[in-house]
Amino acid sequence: MSAVRPIPGAEHDGETSWQRELREQFPIVTAHPELAYLDSAATSQKPRAVLEAVQAYLTTSNANAGRGTYPWANRTTDLVEGTRERVKEFLRDPEPDRSAVHFTGGTTEGLRTVARDWLVPYLTDGDEILVPYADHRANLDPWLEARRLLAERGVDVRVRALPVQAVSGDYDHRRLGEVVGPRTRFVAATHVHHVYGGDMNVHRIRAAVGPDVPICLDAAQSVGHLPLGLDDPALDVDFVVFSGHKAMALPGTGAVWARNARGPAFRPAGWQGTPNTVGIVSLRAALDWLDAAGPDRIARWTAGLTTRLTDRLRHLDPYEVLGCPAGLAADSALPAAQRRHGIVTFRHRGIPSDDLGFVLYSHGFMVRADSLCQAGADEKDGAVRVSLHVYNTVEEIDRLLAVLASLT
Ligand SMILES: Cc1ncc(COP(=O)(O)O)c(C=O)c1O
Repeated sequence: MSAVRPIPGAEHDGETSWQRELREQFPIVTAHPELAYLDSAATSQKPRAVLEAVQAYLTTSNANAGRGTYPWANRTTDLVEGTRERVKEFLRDPEPDRSAVHFTGGTTEGLRTVARDWLVPYLTDGDEILVPYADHRANLDPWLEARRLLAERGVDVRVRALPVQAVSGDYDHRRLGEVVGPRTRFVAATHVHHVYGGDMNVHRIRAAVGPDVPICLDAAQSVGHLPLGLDDPALDVDFVVFSGHKAMALPGTGAVWARNARGPAFRPAGWQGTPNTVGIVSLRAALDWLDAAGPDRIARWTAGLTTRLTDRLRHLDPYEVLGCPAGLAADSALPAAQRRHGIVTFRHRGIPSDDLGFVLYSHGFMVRADSLCQAGADEKDGAVRVSLHVYNTVEEIDRLLAVLASLT
C-alpha cells in the first residue's frame, strides 16, 4: 500500500503521523490493506484497546451486575455504574448529579424507550410534537408509535414535521416558526444527518421553541466523530441517544443520556434484567480511547477527507452528491463540504446504486448502497454512501476517486 499522503493544511500539525499511529491500533483494518472500510456510519471498527478490555473482563471478572456480593460481581457492578459516570464525563455533562444514563442496544432502542417510557406519560390531549420525517427512520417510528399508543387511550396528539430544505436536507430553520405553537411540547431532532452528513444545527431549534420545550437528540452519527459538549449552551438538549457500536464499542451497545431538567425524570419502565455487561465494558474502553485520540482531531481528520472526496466528486460529471449543491451554504460562512461530517452520499447518473456498490466492492471498497434507512425513502431512492472514521486515509479516498472516475 502506498504511503499516506498529508491532507493539505494538516501536515504542519503532524496530523498524518498521528493518524497513522491510530490506524495501526485497528487490527481488522491493518490485516486487510487491500480493502477500504468506508461504512463507519453503519458501525465502526474497534481499536485494540477495546478488544483487550473485553478480553480482560471476560477472563478475569465476568459476572452479573447488581446481584452477587462476591468480588467478580462487585467489580462488574462497579464497571456498569462507573460507565454511567464515564458517559456523563464524555458528554461533558454540566450537572451529572441530576442527569441519568440508561444503557441500550443502540440508538433505535434508546429512542423507542424515550418515546414509550417518557413521552407517552408526559403528553396530554391536544399537545403537539415536532419530529424529523426525512432523517433515519429510527428517529421517526417511535414518535408515530407514541401517537398511536396515546390515541388508543383517547389522547389526541398532533405530530408535525420539522421543515426541511429540499436540496440540502438540512432543517429549514427559517420555517420553524410555522410549525412551533403554544402546544409544542417536545421536539425530536438529529445531530448529524446519516445521509448528508450535515450538522442539523439544533441550537436553532432551541431558539425557535424557547427554553421550556424538551428536545431529544439522535446523536448516532456524532458521538465519537466530533466534540460533543453538553456544557455548550448551543447544545441545550434534554436527551442524547447514541449507539456505542458506531463509536468504537461492541455491537448491541448504546446509551440514553437524560438531563432530567425539563418534564419528569427519565425512568425506563419495568424490570430491566441483566445489562449487556460486555458491551458496557467495551463502551467504557471506547470512550477512553476516543477521549485520548481527541474528538476535535478526529473531526478535523474526517472533515479533511470528506472535503477532498466531495469537492472532487462534485466535478465528476456523472455523479450527483446528495445534499451538496452549489449555494448550499447560503446562511453559513463555510463552504458546503466543510460542514459535512465524514459522510458523502452520491449517485451515478447512469449506473444503479446497488450495481455501483458491487463494482466498488470488486475494487476493495466497502460502502453502503441502498435506501440508507432514510424515513420516506424506498429502493428507487437508493444511493451510495461513503462514511469515514479516523482510520481512513487520504490514499483510500484518492483510490476511490480514481475508480469512480474510471466509471464515467
Ligand atoms: C442517525 C441515525 N439514527 C439512528 C440509527 C440507528 O442506530 P442503531 O442501528 O444502532 O440502533 C442510525 C444508524 O445508522 C443513524 O444513522
